[in-house]
Amino acid sequence: LHASVSVDPAFRVGPVRRRTFGSFVEHLGRCVYTGIHDPEAPSADEDGFRRDVIDLTRELGISTVRYPGGNFVSGYRWEDGIGPVADRPRRLDLAWHSTEPNIVGVDEFMKWSAKSGTEPMMAVNLGTRGIQEALDLLEYCNVPGGTHWSDLRRANGAEDPYRIRMWCLGNEMDGPWQVGARTADEYGRLAARTASAMRMVDPGIELVACGSSASMMPTFGEWERTVLGHTHEQVDYISAHAYYFEEDGDLGSFLASSVDMDHFIESVVAAADLVRAQKKEKKRIHLSFDEWNVWYQKRADSKPPTGDDWPVAPVLLEDRYNVADAVVVGSLLISLLRRTDRVHAASLAQLVNVIAPIMTEPGGRAWRQTTFHPFAQASNLAHGDVLRLAIDAPEYETARFGGVPVIDAVATRDPESGEVVIFAVNRSTTDEVALDVDLRAVPGLRVLGATSLSNPDHTWSATADDDASVAPVANTTASVADGRASALLPPVSWNVIRLG
Ligand code: AHR
Repeated sequence: LHASVSVDPAFRVGPVRRRTFGSFVEHLGRCVYTGIHDPEAPSADEDGFRRDVIDLTRELGISTVRYPGGNFVSGYRWEDGIGPVADRPRRLDLAWHSTEPNIVGVDEFMKWSAKSGTEPMMAVNLGTRGIQEALDLLEYCNVPGGTHWSDLRRANGAEDPYRIRMWCLGNEMDGPWQVGARTADEYGRLAARTASAMRMVDPGIELVACGSSASMMPTFGEWERTVLGHTHEQVDYISAHAYYFEEDGDLGSFLASSVDMDHFIESVVAAADLVRAQKKEKKRIHLSFDEWNVWYQKRADSKPPTGDDWPVAPVLLEDRYNVADAVVVGSLLISLLRRTDRVHAASLAQLVNVIAPIMTEPGGRAWRQTTFHPFAQASNLAHGDVLRLAIDAPEYETARFGGVPVIDAVATRDPESGEVVIFAVNRSTTDEVALDVDLRAVPGLRVLGATSLSNPDHTWSATADDDASVAPVANTTASVADGRASALLPPVSWNVIRLG
């Protein structure tokens, strides 16, 4: 197969935003306990945080980290997690039918955040709680001192305010599974009032209203319109959540998952712009795609325990990712980057153990899943401007989306160095694609490096013993001649071509 793309700096979509490369740490399964925090691990530091996970978080190039949930936040009492650990209560976590020991709370998370060089994105509970508790948490975090909650933070060891900028107004409030789920009108009114009050404490914060928890929710679209009808003046972002998995062996449709993400983004932008037009407002609402990933939701360990079994940090949602999953993660990153004009933040859900690029053994090793690599490459190599590419590629037929181009790609260009990076997936399950890149608008480039992530067996998964076999390897077919680059892209592959 042959495909061609044209690179032209005139087709600038917007800047590469660091916040596109965010992630998510929820009190769920082994994400916090034995994930980021594990005093028994050989790499544990003086606060019980795993240094190996911190190092891998840095290697991934994570920018923001959303915390503490997720479904968990909708039943969470944040003040359970402050003060002397021995005095903290153990609570039922209804979202995941677990016991929350409250060993890690906001102060510990903020320590971890500083150690890992990430920006916190804090969620407030609008499920079982409301405006007052959100204000208390904000006061605890962002007010310098001289008040009840801010002085308590200082007494708990954090003299300086955390000054957290990004705040999520609840989580997935459209989902019937959510503790305290609401209608769009109920949630919109509560979110607007909570947002106004929070801005009275700290006008500098950025606020995210809950959008739909999936594009197939029955209220999708109408939910966004109604919620923004209430909150447009008060918030900066509307959230989007999407998870994909291969169903019934339909690899072709799975590899085309980003078609759904593109549609999701377009639809939410349309709903936000409709409200903007109706309200005759100048301000635009942007998207925080703050949960996205591959998640095999039908696997047994995606189901929480039941009955009298309320374990601490059980094995939950520990998906093992293969090569095809990594290619899908890469293609979803292409979609997010391509809409950098409206997607201003995103979070790969989640960071450790729970549907995660990083895995740990309790008290043992940490290792990289296949999905680690496309994320790390995109985060570390995308700089400057995002360029939309003119793509001409043959289509293949999918059951879910009809005809889909075998190639999807996006480019970034650093205006200072002139370096152009092309990120491309080949979704063909059978054919190598000869990619031809028209570089006439960016003359004088040569190949600085090219890599491909693929495997003759696309079901290959990494393990703690071997997490390197499907790391991206040099693609030696990449070359430039006469203003055109070319490279052979293997079937089911994620590819990066650096030109400078
Ligand atoms: O990321 C796992 C779960 O998926 C989150 O808790 C929830 O927000 C979503 O449904």
